[in-house]
Amino acid sequence: MSDNVRRPETMERITTPELAKAFIDEQVAAIKAQVGEKKVLLALSGGVDSSVVAALLIKAIGQNLVCVHVNHGLLRKGEPEQVIQVFRNEMNANLIYVDAVDRFLDKLAGVTDPEQKRMIIGGEFIEVFAEEARKLDGIEFLAQGTIWPDILESEAGIKAHHNAGGLPEDLAFELVEPVRILFKDEVRVVGKELGLPDNMVYRQPFPGPGLGVRCPGAITRDRLEAVRESDAILREEFAKNGLEGKVWQYFTVVPDFKSTGVKDGKRTFDWPCIIRAINTTDVMEVSVEHLSDELIDHLVQRIISEVPGINRVLFDYTPKPPATVEYE
Ligand code: XMP
Repeated sequence: MSDNVRRPETMERITTPELAKAFIDEQVAAIKAQVGEKKVLLALSGGVDSSVVAALLIKAIGQNLVCVHVNHGLLRKGEPEQVIQVFRNEMNANLIYVDAVDRFLDKLAGVTDPEQKRMIIGGEFIEVFAEEARKLDGIEFLAQGTIWPDILESEAGIKAHHNAGGLPEDLAFELVEPVRILFKDEVRVVGKELGLPDNMVYRQPFPGPGLGVRCPGAITRDRLEAVRESDAILREEFAKNGLEGKVWQYFTVVPDFKSTGVKDGKRTFDWPCIIRAINTTDVMEVSVEHLSDELIDHLVQRIISEVPGINRVLFDYTPKPPATVEYE
């Protein structure tokens, strides 16, 4: 789908497997017509939108899609492995995996300002992706997971929709945007029909700078690991307790201060871990999901016993406003 395609006013909301299948057939034909035998590049994060775009393109052009997965070290536990498993092993995709963990974390070392952290993560991502793109021959197209709300919001001046605009000038690709006219819920229905796993399709929103904004202040590897491990425990417990897919967003934050504790009769001096679980429709106003006492107690026990460096667990009861969802 090219730049000027708009969602038809009369388009039926894609809510069923049949409607999803019809959309997939239509898009596969459209992709084939647009790119022919040429090659398409895609930055595959493993998020819902890029994953659905990848699955659609694999169906349409197979190995002529080149996926690049950049592991910047700020992904959640198991995410890079899942991208490799689903796309390379199961869908036989042409996938380039770039381990850029050291590169990102070295650049971020000592950087405390949240906006500077975001700039470094975003800028470095484009650089790594551009380097990979330059190594490849014969790429003429760039696929993107732009969705309809991105277009509406950028037209309304609410947010700039981050597209190819970020790439250096020598990489001028024609865009392929096969989910451009879809709302998020429709992307999920299409993803399910394409056979993507549920925990990919029904994934909660995850910010571009990833765990970097949940490790406030200067990111260190040990504190980042504490965020990643505690987040994995929280997600596992939410899934076990039927809260996955029901609560809008839930995660942990490990702030950069320590407090005194005691373990095995010895003094400890470790970080607290903050749990945040919220619900919203538009992310402008957010309410807190109240967990049961049993679940909170269980989470506290697991986190303090399984995550190195944590000796205290706190729960954030603050709505938005005044608190934003993320801590920085
Ligand atoms: P805030 O913290 O602004 O978050 O209340 C609202 C929603 O946006 C997500 N978020 C981001 N997403 N890049 C993103 O892609 C970012 O820099 C970013 N900051 C916040 C946040 O997770 C929440 O869903």
